[in-house]
Order: sequence, then C-alpha cells, then structure tokens
Amino acid sequence: MVDRLHVLDLRCEYKKNPVGIDERKPRLSWKLASRRRGVTQTAYRIQVSAEPSFQNPVWDTGRRESDRSLHVEYEGTELVSGTRYYFRVKVWDDAGRESDWSETAFWETALLSAGDWSARWIAAPGDESKDDRCDYFRKSFTVQGEIVQARIYATALGLYRLYVNGRPADDTLFAPGWTSYNRRLQYQTYDVTALLAPGENVIGAVLGNGWYKGPLSWDLITDVYGDRRALLLQLHVTYRDGTQARWVSDSSWRCAKGPLLYSEIYHGDTYDARLEQPGWNRPGFAAGADWRPVAVVEPAVGALVAQENDPARIVKELRPIGIIRTPGGDTVIDMGQNMVGWVRFTVREAEGTAIRLQHAEVLDREGNFYTGNLRKARQTVTYICRGGGPETYEPFFSFQGFRYVKVEGVTGELSPDDFVGCVIHTDMEPTGTFRCSDELVNKLYENIVWGQRGNFLDVPTDCPQRDERLGWTGDAQVFIRTAAFQFQVAPFFEKWLRDLAADQRPDGCVPHVVPSLEAAGFGSSAWGDAAVICPWTLYECYGDTRVLERQYPSMKAWVEYIRSQGEEECLWNTGFHYGDWLGLDGKPDNSVGATPKDLIATAFYARSAEIVARSADLLGYREDAEAYAELHRRVVEAFRREFVTPNGRLASPTQTAYALALMFDLLEERHRPRAAKMLAELIEANDTHLTTGFVGTPYLCFALSRFGYADLALRLVLQRDYPSWLYPVTQGATTVWEHWDGIKPDGSFWDEIMNSFNHYAYGSIGDWLYRRLAGLDADASAAGYRRIRVHPFMDGAISSAEASLASMYGTIRVGWNREDDGAARLDAVIPPNTTAVVILPGADPETVRERGRRLEDCEGVRSVSVSEDGVTVEVGSGEYEFVFVKK
Ligand code: BGC
Repeated sequence: MVDRLHVLDLRCEYKKNPVGIDERKPRLSWKLASRRRGVTQTAYRIQVSAEPSFQNPVWDTGRRESDRSLHVEYEGTELVSGTRYYFRVKVWDDAGRESDWSETAFWETALLSAGDWSARWIAAPGDESKDDRCDYFRKSFTVQGEIVQARIYATALGLYRLYVNGRPADDTLFAPGWTSYNRRLQYQTYDVTALLAPGENVIGAVLGNGWYKGPLSWDLITDVYGDRRALLLQLHVTYRDGTQARWVSDSSWRCAKGPLLYSEIYHGDTYDARLEQPGWNRPGFAAGADWRPVAVVEPAVGALVAQENDPARIVKELRPIGIIRTPGGDTVIDMGQNMVGWVRFTVREAEGTAIRLQHAEVLDREGNFYTGNLRKARQTVTYICRGGGPETYEPFFSFQGFRYVKVEGVTGELSPDDFVGCVIHTDMEPTGTFRCSDELVNKLYENIVWGQRGNFLDVPTDCPQRDERLGWTGDAQVFIRTAAFQFQVAPFFEKWLRDLAADQRPDGCVPHVVPSLEAAGFGSSAWGDAAVICPWTLYECYGDTRVLERQYPSMKAWVEYIRSQGEEECLWNTGFHYGDWLGLDGKPDNSVGATPKDLIATAFYARSAEIVARSADLLGYREDAEAYAELHRRVVEAFRREFVTPNGRLASPTQTAYALALMFDLLEERHRPRAAKMLAELIEANDTHLTTGFVGTPYLCFALSRFGYADLALRLVLQRDYPSWLYPVTQGATTVWEHWDGIKPDGSFWDEIMNSFNHYAYGSIGDWLYRRLAGLDADASAAGYRRIRVHPFMDGAISSAEASLASMYGTIRVGWNREDDGAARLDAVIPPNTTAVVILPGADPETVRERGRRLEDCEGVRSVSVSEDGVTVEVGSGEYEFVFVKK
C-alpha cells in the first residue's frame, strides 16, 4: 500500500472549528499522519479565507520552510468581527513528499471591538434584581425572511440560561463562567441559526445570582462583585439576500418572576412548578405571563472578552446503583460514584407535593446519610409539583458534590430509572489513559480522573461540595501537570491565569484563591507560585510560548514581590504561609506539617526565579534572563547557608524538605546522592509511609526515582495502609480525599470542619504514574512533546503498564510488560514530526530486537547507545515494538 502524507485535526487556539474567538492573531495547529517512520515536516503552507472556496485568501503563507506545526500565529489582513474564516494546510516532509490540502477547518471571530456592542444592560426593576428569586426576561420580535446565519452574543452579571423559542440556545451551563468580573467578563457566542424561523420569535433568559452575587466561601459572603443581576445580549441575523438585522437587550425587553424561586451554587434550587404559566415549557416565555418593563442599568463591569475556555456541560450521565434504606430511616439513592453536577429526576405526584433531594458524599459508619462535612452548604433541591403526570426537573444554577441522594416527598417505591446523575464540568477533551497490572492502582487512577471532573467546573477548585469550591492557587499548582495528562487543559488554565494576573495586587502579591476573594487572603508561598509554575507547565506540555509571554509580567511581579519581603533579599522568612499543608509530621491536631515554612518559601522562591529566568530566555528578554538567573543562583546559595549543613544534610530533615531540595536542585551536586539516601531512610524508618502534605507530595516519588530509588517510590505507591494513596481506595473511595485519612480505619471521620472527599491535590501522583511508572515523559529539551522521553520503571511489583497521551502532535503511546524470567517488551507510538529517546531499562544489548530485527537494521532508529541503565534508542516517529531480556 502506498503511504501518503496527510494533514489533519486542524485547530485554532486549541479548538476544533471554534465559534466566538476574539484573538486578533489566533494560532493555528495541525497534525501529520504517515505510516512511514521518522517523518518530519520540512515546510508548510497555510491558506485562510472568508470563503470556503479560498478564492480570495486573506492570508496565504506560500511554501514556508519550517518544521513548525503548532501555534502558528495568523499574520494575514486584519480580522473582521462575526466572520467565519476557513483555513487549510498542506505540508512537505523530509522525504520531499507533498501532502494534499487538509480538509477545511474554520474559526469564527467574536466581537473584536467595544464598538460592536450596542446592547444595553437590562435588569429587573428596583430591588427585584437584588433578591434571591431568579429573573426571567423575554423579547419577542419578527424575522422578515430566510436566515442564513444567526448569532447571539450574551453575558450576564450572575449566571444565565438562554432559550430561543422555548429551546435552549445550546448546551452551555454556568455561563458566563467565573472570572474576576470587575476586570474581565466573558460573553458567549451562540449559533442559533437553526432555532429561528420567519415570523414571530421569542428569546428568553433566566438569571440567577451565581458567583457574581450569591453566597461564597465559609462566610457565605454575598454581593462579592455587585448587588444587582443584569443581562446583556445581541442577536445578529444575516438574511439570504445579504441584509442584516440586529436585536439587542434594551428597554423594549420584558421581565417577570417565575417558578425558579431560588438557585444558588452551594445551596441548591427551589422550583415551584405551579408558577409555570401555561405553555411555559420550562420556560416557554409565553406571552400570557405577567411581563413587565425591564430597567436599563449601567453597572460597572470589566472588559468584555469572548469565552476563553471550553464551556461547562453535562458530560456524562450516571444511573443509580442502588436505593438504600438507612438505619436512620432515610431513603437514599446511591450513584456509585462521588460526582459533581446534579440529579435529573422524574416524579408523578399530586399538585403541591414537595419533593426534596439532599446530596452528600458519604454515609457515616452506621450507614446513615451524612452532611457534616458540607459545613453550611445545603446542597438541597426542592421541587413543588404541578401535578397531573410525569414531571422532570434538573437544577439551573446550583451544582452538588455527592454520591448519595436522600429523597423525600415521593409516595410509593422509588424507581432508580427516575434518577439520572448528570456529571457537569468544563468540557475539556480527554487526552490521557493509564493502566497497569495492579487493579488498586487502576482504581486510584480513575479516582484521580474523577477528582479533575469534579473540580474543573470553569475554575480549578479545591473541592466541589462544601461552602468553599474556590480556585485555591496552591491546589491548582500541585495538580496541573497531572491534569494536563488527563484532559486538554490549556484554554482552561489560560483563562484562569488571566484572572490570576488581573487579581494580583499592584505589589505582585498573588491571592490565595483566583478569582480572588479578599477574605481568603494573599501571599503564601507555594500557593502564589502558581503564578509561575502554571504557565511554565502549559509551556512544557503544549509548547505554548504565548502563555509565557502573556503571563510574564505576572510571573515576574510575583518573584519581585517575594524579593521585597523581609530584610534578606534572598531568603523568604516573613509573612503568612500555609506550609506543608496537611502534612503528617507536624504537631498533633495541627493542619501543617513539620517542614519549616521559611524553608518551603525559600525553595519555591528559587524555583520561581529559575522559571522566570528560563522564560525570559525563551522570550528573548536578555537582561531579565541574566538578572533572574543571577537571582536564582543567590537564592540557592542563601538556601544552602540557611537550611543545609556544610556536609549536605538538611537541618530540618523532613520528607518534604528533602523532596523539594532534590527536585529544585537546591543542593550541591556532590551532596545529592547522600540527601536522596537520607530521604529514602526517612521513609523506610517510617515503615515505608509518607508524611508529606500538599507541598511535598507531588515531588516525593519523583525525587526518589530521579536518584535511584524508584523501587521505593513504587513501594510507597503500592502501600495500602494509612497514610498512602491506596488507603482510601481500600476504603471504597471513588475520588481522591483531602486527608490521607478522611475516613479512619475504624470508620470514623476526620474532623468535619475540613473533610472533603473530592480534593484533587494528592491526585498529583497521577503525574508520576504516567511519567515514571508507564514511562511516557516529555524531554525537557523540546517543549510540547516535540521530543519525547520513554523511560518506564519496569523492576518493581508491577509487571505491566500502559499509557497514552493525545499530544498536540498526535497520540503518544507507551506500553510494557515483563515476565518473571526477565523477558520484556516495550511498545511505543511516536507521532510524526517528533522524535523520542526510548530507554529499555536494564536491557541486555545483545537481546534487543524490534519486530525481529536488530536495532542497527531498523527504519526510524537514529542512534543506539548502551549504558549501565540499559539500552537507549533514539527514534523518529512510528510504531515500535521492542523485545529484550533484562539483565
Ligand atoms: C482548601 C485547600 C486550600 C487550603 C489552604 C482549604 O480550605 O480546601 O485545599 O489549599 O484551604 O490551605
């Protein structure tokens, strides 16, 4: 069969055919496909045109000699608002072959300038826009003929849902998302062409408080951004004859109160179906209701920006696994999985019957419904029946973190068929898979994925159930690399990082939660370092330099903030820090581990200064690159003076201190092997158990495997007794817990003041499972998996593992297994336009074969070298199957 070179999977700003992009220089990426090994791109040509025929391209690069296939910035004529731009790509490869044009892809611009907006903000009159009862808006208008294109651009102060002629404008939930509203407010673009028809049409909207003004945090602070809900909307229509029409929110709109009496993120919904007007059809916005004039208002809002991350949606639906009658007499549905979203339920009851659903994560040791750990979050949905037949409800602006649902008010037996668990999160593309020979580890991996599903609902949250659900910077920082394996998270984090920068104080100090809530405070080390570590991680995983460029002022400001603290320029030993949060080696009944806070703060100071130096270097900021490299050198020196003995021991010998010192290269080279040995001894002396908290945990196994103790790292991962990653799994966990012992071996709980069963921080071990156990890693020399490093750990109690990652270049796969007699197999799939270093650990060079051939005779193999570690093979793209015997 003739092998052809193809270009496929075209992306604009990471997305497939996105509608509503306001980047003036969007970036285009594509993948290559070819069965030939070792394929690289040598040239490309891009055409962009406002017509699918490409008759008059607005950009044609011609043939450009370049191996670049990611993030090529648009450089054509200035883009026009509300326009669809088609693009296609062809490439040439290293064998001189030319591909055909790719299939055509497109992106559509949103509203590129403030002048595109003519809508007015509208609100319910007077205090009606300030109370807790949701608002309904309505606009009826006449469409004059056949429509070829219709778009709604809309946003709200609060949360909104849009309907066109009674049907949802699309499946987006929790719009406009959570940003630092007084600085940046996202609007959404809806393609409503198919929902409109000639004649009378009705746009309806429902508005709730949401993050804008509903209760937030443990103090249930309200009106954080403002006290009045409001809506802004424009409908742009193009008729078949090319004429255009526009309807915008203004004084001609009407508003009403309706059946949605209450809908708050922490507390749930109250819906009285008896208040639906005939023909409302949830909500049909029929003319008969008590519609009154709206108020036109002029709220203070930040810049309007087009939706940046993927929308939140119902991504999965779960069916109950059982219905329980608890010893306390409650009827409780078990979803079988700690999940985030809501329950869609159907009931058949008499008019006025109140149905109540209460949501909880766990049952207590007696098997009773338990809500203690939710603190003040009520997580309760109340539905009052209209009567007369099956009625189905699902919430509007609340989400619940739960596995168990207590149901009250239903007469007769409950049927599991009437309850659907709707899993809601930002609809990121799944990118990773992992499996190994140990089923408990596989379950742990699944739990880590569920931790991300549950906590990536528009912002990265600490937990999704109690009165918190905030964008804790520290948690995001420790989990981001794992997150980037499991899902495509670039747009998600790029949005969040913009809010981080927007909420940073003028002195560079970073809030503890983003979007910021003053009450949550500012400035802890390891939390604030999210400003630097997160953009850098996106660069490493996606080869994205624009995020570094955009965030650079924020990254630098954070390091300068640290530098200005206290009297010692290169030590950070002042201020408030969370320390090794929830570490186990601290004082009894204390939430902070034993590692000194100034050691952690100075270690992260060094790490952040180093990243800023490297980013400056990449971006061509010469002076900064040198200045921060020098600062980094001096901070490392100060660290050694303050925290390391002359012979290289850490003065405060904790697991976290050693892990940080080793992973951030803070020790003199000659001292590192000994330090690693001491770390290993600390763990062994603790009966192979960790003591690390949020700060040390992500680095612990990496530090061990980097310095020759991978076997111990794996034994830690396989440890089943508390404290360990698998302990919760043995207790039936379906998500990752906040505490190593959220539920104790005797079935009792950790203090209910702070005991989330869906906290992703310790899920950061996912990164190690991918990179060290399965061995699917990026080589630091070329970001975005342009150069791949395959280096599994094949020697411990795990006999096989496999992982895959849909990288920007294509899917990378690694799989291996090992027999007791030392026979081993390692498969690797390396995408076109990348190369890989494949290490066959402990391989006897004489025995290595790739599909039966010796390495010297293999297509795609570029070099082979033998060392103590085994055989290292450098390869180009292709599918490889190595077999060998381990020495
Ligand atoms: C959150 C965390 C967070 C921490 C700060 C907690 O309440 O749930 O995950 O990082 O506070 O230490």
